[in-house]
Amino acid sequence: MSLARDSKVYVAGHQGMVGSALCRALNEAGFNNVVGQTRVQLDLRNQGATESFLKSEQPDIIIIAAAKVGGIDANRNQPADFLLENQQIQTNLIHGGFKCGITKLLYLGSSCMYPRLADQPMKEESLCTGALEPTNEGYATAKVTGWKMCQAYRQQHGCDFITAIPTNLYGLNDHYEAGRSHVIPALISKYHQAKTDGETTITNWGTGDPRREFLNVDDAATGCIHLLDHYSDAQPINIAGGFELSIRDLNEKVAELTGYDGEVKWDTEKPDGMPRKLLNDSRLKAMGWKPKINFDEGLKQAYEDYLERFS
Ligand SMILES: NC(=O)c1ccc[n+]([C@@H]2O[C@H](COP(=O)([O-])OP(=O)(O)OC[C@H]3O[C@@H](n4cnc5c(N)ncnc54)[C@H](OP(=O)(O)O)[C@@H]3O)[C@@H](O)[C@H]2O)c1
Repeated sequence: MSLARDSKVYVAGHQGMVGSALCRALNEAGFNNVVGQTRVQLDLRNQGATESFLKSEQPDIIIIAAAKVGGIDANRNQPADFLLENQQIQTNLIHGGFKCGITKLLYLGSSCMYPRLADQPMKEESLCTGALEPTNEGYATAKVTGWKMCQAYRQQHGCDFITAIPTNLYGLNDHYEAGRSHVIPALISKYHQAKTDGETTITNWGTGDPRREFLNVDDAATGCIHLLDHYSDAQPINIAGGFELSIRDLNEKVAELTGYDGEVKWDTEKPDGMPRKLLNDSRLKAMGWKPKINFDEGLKQAYEDYLERFS
């Protein structure tokens, strides 16, 4: 059954990449009472401040899109910060939401919650069946704990708290800072910079053969709303869409988009990482949701957003 469109929805992390897409999608879906707080207004690591905000604001629904997110180096160098801060943020929101009697909570997990050697495409049943990837274990452990908290509050208190696991996202409001960006923004900025500086060669790591899955963040946001309206279960559910391509093909698309026409070399001495990584999307698909944004269109829009914000 769909949620009432006049429900008060608090999007934690509403200025982030996913949070801002959620605000657009909620607006589009007719929710007319969406609230958010910047980190300066409310530091979600602070339990007292978070609980008093929830008590005074009395939201009906909370979406947890606030998190300490970072690249591989940050994760490797600060596992304690990633574990602690994410646990604080999600614990304060989950327990605070329970205390003030919200009707629904959507917690956003991440594909790093899956065991490093999970069968591909990764099915929800694979969660917690093996060791996590060591490079982001702090972050992934916190993410698993958030899901387990949602599950425990459902079991003990009957709370309608659900967990979604989106695949790799790209699109508007992405992060382009070095050390923070994911593969698509990193390539956009690398190729754009090379073209602007007149460089004639770009060298990439590995063979370019690994395949990766991508979903536009605006599609992920409609997936979240579909789940808010139609999903109530302890088991997390993947938000994907089945679109994957090789890193080599992705490079070619970004080179064309940015107008870079120099040489692209592949340093095959460098590691490739996992040959293939994607989420099984059959459960959400069976619930009648599918992504709408064509990858080439979405990539073009992301590049335009980059040019507008950084060029
Ligand atoms: N992006 C992806 O590809 C992807 C894929 C799967 C899952 N997810 C999940 O989606 C969620 C959001 O990711 P994202 O990519 O949107 O990250 P993001 O752009 O960094 O957004 C995170 C938001 O959380 C806020 N925040 C962080 N710490 C806070 C604190 N202590 N108090 C208040 N606000 C705080 C940030 O505020 P500031 O801007 O002030 O730092 C930011 O607005 C994460 O849980 C992530 O695991 C993302």
